[in-house]
Amino acid sequence: MNLFDVYPLFPITPIKAKGSWLWDDRGLKYLDLYGGHAVISIGHSHPCYIEKLTSQISQIGFYSNSVRIAQQEELAYKLGELSAYPEYNLFLCNSGAEANENALKLASFHNGRKRIIAFKNAFHGRTSLAVACTDDPSIKANINRNADITFLPLNDEEALENAMSDEICAVIVEGIQGVAGVIMPSNSFLLKIKSLCELHGSLMILDEVQSGYGRSGRFFAHQSSSVTPDIITVAKGMGNGFPIAGVLIAPYIKARQGMLGTTFGGNYLACAAGIAVLDIIKKEELIENSRKMGEYLYQQLSGLSTLKAVRGIGLMIGIQLSPLAAPVRKALLDDYQIFTGSASCKNTIRILPALNIQQGELEFFLVALKKILETKP
Ligand SMILES: Cc1ncc(COP(=O)(O)O)c(C=O)c1O
Repeated sequence: MNLFDVYPLFPITPIKAKGSWLWDDRGLKYLDLYGGHAVISIGHSHPCYIEKLTSQISQIGFYSNSVRIAQQEELAYKLGELSAYPEYNLFLCNSGAEANENALKLASFHNGRKRIIAFKNAFHGRTSLAVACTDDPSIKANINRNADITFLPLNDEEALENAMSDEICAVIVEGIQGVAGVIMPSNSFLLKIKSLCELHGSLMILDEVQSGYGRSGRFFAHQSSSVTPDIITVAKGMGNGFPIAGVLIAPYIKARQGMLGTTFGGNYLACAAGIAVLDIIKKEELIENSRKMGEYLYQQLSGLSTLKAVRGIGLMIGIQLSPLAAPVRKALLDDYQIFTGSASCKNTIRILPALNIQQGELEFFLVALKKILETKP
């Protein structure tokens, strides 16, 4: 059997990883500024993470959600504390798309409505409602086009005011638009969404799947404002590569038995990974490191006159070039062994490293980028 051929692949086979570094089957060493798409939060193969998962599998790896799983409660408690949302409730699932799918469904259970507002260039995942809320026609099949979604320009308060009504079920917005190329919603726009949602009985869903878990230099990107969303979704950095995702639900949204469910969500191993990630983020002050290293990188990049723009905050940085990004990313990988991310905006490189990246590692990247831009301005 062959693999279903949907991914354009780098011709590289990593076999080992540690911290912010990967090694391939030829022994070449790579700096990982992509984190497997913003997934690696605490660094590859952290010893405490390995120990937690190993000791969990030696006890019990799986049972269904028909029994009490104490690790879920521990995870929910620690997530509530570190994220500063202790009063919210947690529903555990397996991926970002699934978290958004459940968030949208929950909003509709809550107010009985079905119209959604999403934003231009948004990415919310590839399952049916999540992809319907994603602004990319090329990844939607006809069957995904039945949902009632209105796409508005991000940060356009007037367009939002005009579109809101008592028919809107939910407004879904990314903490920082990632796939689009690191585009930030303004604080005033986030507050406007929340106030209009309150006025119309709609729910505000904050997709922090990519921007959450310390990536922005705060636990959640939206915490640079005073907004409190009704529902927050998390995934990528939550398990450092072990599939786990969550929906954080405000206490006034009430649960009913059987309302949501999943076979694998919240299993012992996923929870062990999730707990290890939270413990390590807290103990090693990785949110602080994300903020500091992000500021350093942003400042250094802002001083490069060859760049068109630098966007983002913390360790979620978009570098907009004058030329197309693909040849520069290829040179970074081929000539300097540095992994970076792409974006739907074709001249943007995304930098999404582990939250414990060190300044020396960022310097290595900056030297390489400057050299490449001298030849490919
Ligand atoms: C903001 C955002 N939401 C949702 C998703 C979907 O997550 P997953 O691929 O885990 O389904 C992504 C993935 O890139 C994302 O960036």
